[in-house]
Amino acid sequence: MPTAGIAETMPQSESCELERPKPFNFFIFGASGDLAKRKIIPALYQLSVLSLLPEDFLVIGAARSDISTEAFRDKMRQAVMEAAGHSAFDKGKWEHLANKLYYIPMQYDSPQAYTSLAKRCMPLEKQYKTCQNRIFYLAVPPTAFEDVITNLGEAGLASPASAGNEKGYTHIVIEKPFGRDLRSASNLNGVLNKYFAENQIYRMDHYLAKETVQNILMFRFANSVFEPVWNNRFIDHVQITAAETIGIEHRGGYYEESGVLRDMFQNHLLHLLALTAMEPPQAFSTEKVRDERVKAIGSIKPLNPECLAGFLSLGQYGPGNGTPGYRQEPDVQPYSNTPTYAALKLEVENWRWNGVPFYLRSGKKLASRKGEIAVHFKPVPHLMFMGSQMGRIEPNAIVLRIQPGEGLEMLIQAKHPGSRICLSPVKLDYTYPEEAAPKDYSRVLLDCMQGDQMLFVRTSEVDASWELLTPVIEQAESQKWDFPNYHPGSEGPAGAAALLSRNGHQWDPL
Ligand SMILES: NC(=O)c1ccc[n+]([C@@H]2O[C@H](COP(=O)([O-])OP(=O)(O)OC[C@H]3O[C@@H](n4cnc5c(N)ncnc54)[C@H](OP(=O)(O)O)[C@@H]3O)[C@@H](O)[C@H]2O)c1
Repeated sequence: MPTAGIAETMPQSESCELERPKPFNFFIFGASGDLAKRKIIPALYQLSVLSLLPEDFLVIGAARSDISTEAFRDKMRQAVMEAAGHSAFDKGKWEHLANKLYYIPMQYDSPQAYTSLAKRCMPLEKQYKTCQNRIFYLAVPPTAFEDVITNLGEAGLASPASAGNEKGYTHIVIEKPFGRDLRSASNLNGVLNKYFAENQIYRMDHYLAKETVQNILMFRFANSVFEPVWNNRFIDHVQITAAETIGIEHRGGYYEESGVLRDMFQNHLLHLLALTAMEPPQAFSTEKVRDERVKAIGSIKPLNPECLAGFLSLGQYGPGNGTPGYRQEPDVQPYSNTPTYAALKLEVENWRWNGVPFYLRSGKKLASRKGEIAVHFKPVPHLMFMGSQMGRIEPNAIVLRIQPGEGLEMLIQAKHPGSRICLSPVKLDYTYPEEAAPKDYSRVLLDCMQGDQMLFVRTSEVDASWELLTPVIEQAESQKWDFPNYHPGSEGPAGAAALLSRNGHQWDPL
């Protein structure tokens, strides 16, 4: 299919430039772990490269491992070099960060550890003039969240007005998964709300910070041509995909507890659906945008767990292509019932979307790495070109590409060059330029430093998504599935294709 590159990005106005945050002290609990090494420190480094870190700041890594600050800096330097690429590594920008990077060993479950952490930090905070602004990033396993939150609170470190912290702000960042069902998420919110106000709590979903995801709202609400057709009169169905080629890597223990529905659907995929389906907010402000996201998730028709086959298909990858199946991965049970793939059919019950299926799918070890929202339009009402060509005309589609190659494409029909009246599909394609802009993790960290919660998830949003999915997950877990049921490198299990074909639809190829 021919592709037409159409977009030219206009120069950005000065008001688009991001501002440097005020000085801060950034604590990472679980600093010895995978997330700190692969995402958090590389994200801080990217902010340093983009000159988006203030002159004065401090980063304190804390974890149980007994290592020195020097060893921690060395390990993080290696991680940043791997993430940035050795040739692109900017030694000066790294040192701007590394000189302010410290490591303090501690036990998360010891209340005294937090008072002594605070005592040890105070002289550093004075030295680095962090203005009593503190961010606590919880990069620990979810089983340790409650200990860290409670001990921070009991040590008087949660409140912006706590001792030694009279003037600054205190923010807390919680990684996903936020609970494993409605009850555990409500409990976790209960613990958080005991010590922190909602405007201090930053629940992470880094998908929301990807350029294309943020662009969904601009695309829909800043262009008058799309919004009039963004409804059930013109849209036939929507497909939301988050496919990966990799397996569970070294995270078998985590994945066995989680599975794909908790790992991808409760957070990323439902948020993508919310942004696609939500009503225009009255203003582009944090609470108004979050209100509409919550309303969209709350408008999804409740799922009947007694009839899973009507809306859900699950899968688990087997061995193949010289790689182990899920059940052969380290820390996975030999007869594991955990799904590594799911396809889910949802309906949004309101005037705009009644009758339009939203198909969501996500899985590991699939044919390609792909994250996208594909909006498929209805066919034209009358085809006057019948007889002038073979086959049927493919209806229009708009694809918002999240990864790889963030951008958007529109499928239209155009006359095929030549004397005969022949139509052929053409793809209009806009790929975001690889600009020096903060990537997803850098962007959310920057927003947290600036106090902007729009890209973070509110309590009501967490509740709405768990309310929808908890009964389904519980029912699915109580059933025995015929796993493994898809090959690595494939399109997923046959049941996922059947889920769509019942409605006369088919998945876009991965
Ligand atoms: N890694 C990712 O790509 C990713 C992506 C999204 C979300 N997350 C979330 O981010 C958080 C951190 O992920 P991670 O992959 O960095 O985890 P991790 O490497 O398994 O753990 C982080 C650190 O926590 C400590 N830890 C490990 N097990 C513990 C336990 N049972 N009790 C208390 N502390 C323990 C360890 O440090 P010490 O032994 O030195 O204390 C470890 O270095 C998790 O909540 C995870 O779900 C991770």
